[in-house]
Amino acid sequence: MKKNDVIIALDFKDRKETFEFLDKFTEEKPFVKIGMELFYGEGPDIVREIKARGHNIFLDLKLHDIPMTVRKAMKNLALLGVDMTNVHAAGTIEMMKYALEGLEEGAKEAGRERALLIAVTQLTSTSEERMQKELLIDASINDTIVKYAENTKAAGLDGVVCSPLEAAMVKEACGTDFLTVTPGIRYPGADKADQVRVTSPSDAKAIGTDYIVVGRPITKAEDPVAAYRKVCADFL
Ligand code: C5P
Repeated sequence: MKKNDVIIALDFKDRKETFEFLDKFTEEKPFVKIGMELFYGEGPDIVREIKARGHNIFLDLKLHDIPMTVRKAMKNLALLGVDMTNVHAAGTIEMMKYALEGLEEGAKEAGRERALLIAVTQLTSTSEERMQKELLIDASINDTIVKYAENTKAAGLDGVVCSPLEAAMVKEACGTDFLTVTPGIRYPGADKADQVRVTSPSDAKAIGTDYIVVGRPITKAEDPVAAYRKVCADFL
């Protein structure tokens, strides 16, 4: 697996739409992200099918439960053959350690490399105000993100999901080898849709993030293959 890559978010409602999109890629096999909508709608077979076509898969299910439950779930995800998956850092260092063990167990049983495991720090949809008022977290949102990233590193995970603008802060606190996976990618002047703070692929590269997750700028483009190639040319 490449150290840096462009991951296409397959935010489609079902397998039909997903494969209509993937069929456009006749030359390259992009790294793709499968999220909750597609996974819960189609079940684990969608992962097996996309994997069998030769794509690397980031399964974005953001696990958060008691440690033993997460460990057993992660083992099953490893047996599915995913290449990257994630948990909520809010589940604590212990939960993250168990998640990693589950992935290791599954990888061993399947005779393959362990998938990368990354954590979500604070969802970008959570404002500092809500975090402080509703979750009673007294710190600033940036301090919380850095602390959660440090916990993630302490648990032995590979990195975190964060906005490109947070990536520099996370790298400073956790080191350059600690992976950052960043959504919120847009070209200047393009429709931001529901993203608030956005970064272009070349700026994401300059910041030093490792993987970018790009959805609509590629999936809704008139020519998705050309759009994917442009993002790759600008980021890689
Ligand atoms: O279409 P767009 O490029 O905005 O898609 C970004 C993808 O990254 C979506 O699948 C979205 O759920 C995900 N994501 C995000 N912001 C986060 C975490 C995940 O946009 N903080």
